[in-house]
Amino acid sequence: ARIRHFKWEVKYEYKSQDCYKKLAITINGKTPGPTIEARVNDTVVVELKNSLLTENVVIHWHGIRQKGTPWFDGTAGVTQCPIVPGDTFVYKFVVDRPGTYLYHAHYGLQREAGLNGMICVSLPPGESEPYTYDHDRSIILTDWYHKSTYELATGLSSLDFDWVGEPQSLLIHGKGRFCSGLKSDLCDAINSECSPYVITVVPRKTYRLRIGSLTSLAALSFEIEGHNMTVVEADGHNVEPFVVKNLFIYSGETYSVLIKADQAPTRNYWAVSKVVSRKSTTPNGLAIFNYYPNHPRRSPPTVPPIGPAWDDVVPRLAQGEAMKARQGYILPPPQTSDRVIVMLNTQNKINGYTRWSVNNVSYNLPHTPYLIAVKDRMNHVFDQTPPPDGYDSQNYDIFSKAENSNATASSSIYKLQFNSTVDIILQNANTMNIDNNSETHPWHLHGHDFWVLGYGKGKFDINSDPKKYYNLVNPIMKNTVSVQPYGWTALRFVADNPGVWAFHCHIEAHFYLGMGVVFEEGMEMLGRYPTSITGCGDTKGYRMP
Ligand code: C2O
Ligand code: CU
Repeated sequence: ARIRHFKWEVKYEYKSQDCYKKLAITINGKTPGPTIEARVNDTVVVELKNSLLTENVVIHWHGIRQKGTPWFDGTAGVTQCPIVPGDTFVYKFVVDRPGTYLYHAHYGLQREAGLNGMICVSLPPGESEPYTYDHDRSIILTDWYHKSTYELATGLSSLDFDWVGEPQSLLIHGKGRFCSGLKSDLCDAINSECSPYVITVVPRKTYRLRIGSLTSLAALSFEIEGHNMTVVEADGHNVEPFVVKNLFIYSGETYSVLIKADQAPTRNYWAVSKVVSRKSTTPNGLAIFNYYPNHPRRSPPTVPPIGPAWDDVVPRLAQGEAMKARQGYILPPPQTSDRVIVMLNTQNKINGYTRWSVNNVSYNLPHTPYLIAVKDRMNHVFDQTPPPDGYDSQNYDIFSKAENSNATASSSIYKLQFNSTVDIILQNANTMNIDNNSETHPWHLHGHDFWVLGYGKGKFDINSDPKKYYNLVNPIMKNTVSVQPYGWTALRFVADNPGVWAFHCHIEAHFYLGMGVVFEEGMEMLGRYPTSITGCGDTKGYRMP
């Protein structure tokens, strides 16, 4: 195994990602940032310099389990103090599984400002995937807002609530088009940053396309005009191959699909991302699937495909159900669990402020990171009453607006028995103000992969025999999974990674408004944390020369 060393500088720069000029957070001048390419069991070292002038920063390595290094998970308030302007912080962790992962800012709404990138971990020499391809390509799908993170965050945390709204554009690997046909001082239509992203292919070759989504809000459908995609990997795990025309992908998910360049080679084709699950005003994202030797900038002669209907849940649930563990690659889950936690997802009010909650508790991060507070028994740092393991499912009507939408705020965490098997049932419900409205939430677990045991419509019946609905034979493992409108999703994981781990909705504004929880397990087994993670809250005195 090797050491892969990276030196990154994070700063604001004016960019015209979708031809509209605004500030973006870049790594070494780029958004998306550089792709981390490594082999299984390599150690990745990222020396991160914060040159943001007035903002803190942290970076989370999304999908990397951080076995033995929970303090390098990069979650502000949970695993470390944020890196203050001018400081350099060194992340050091092992990438212990092959596959496609992501990284992104995990502080405030900074992810929205473009601080993101991909991690591709390849197999050791001599080993190969259970599928073949000629070339490897990767793209990150995002949505893009023209307001600054400050404006968006202030709107969310004001009494006069100002929702972030629909994004202005969808970007495919950092490129989009907002300005076509518009005239504005900020529209820089000849800027090469906003000419569509190009994926060049050689006729008849097969491509592994790694696709990751780091949208702030949007659930997406992605497709390449005239080409089928064979899904082979999800969140770093091999799945039984299945063919789709369009791929549904939620924020925090990664997939690998195989695409054969088997269409007429005399032209280019459109690659399209489209918002689903919300009635959105955001125009579709467009890239060019370029058949060599056609000119990469040559527009395809066709109108881009319009994609699936935004409000059709059926094909989205079907994709979830089509995904099975590839035989011989994912161990089946323990057949029973030690604990079941049901998590009702709701939108609420606290003292007039709009929030999102789990079992009526909205999350507040403490100023002193949990990892330090738990290790050093600083009990005053966070609420010691454990959060609820469920909600009043007998009496709560998930199909209507809640009679009482008031919630409480808490910083308490779930203590999990080390090595125990935990089931989580995510239960969706109606939103606070609008009848017949329920949203899609992609939930992401830090530090673990989980088995996706099942999805369903309506209210999950805790008293029924769960085996009726669960796939305990060949479920896939993931680190991010969606819960569909008015539906439930059940997952299972083993609490075998000593540390403190966030589990939250990956919609950035929802997490910001409290839609998350924190698990703690096996902290007593951990050695000393590096002092570099201290410096804030009650840990200020720790920072000794
Ligand atoms: Cu990719 Cu806690 O998030
Ligand atoms: Cu959400």
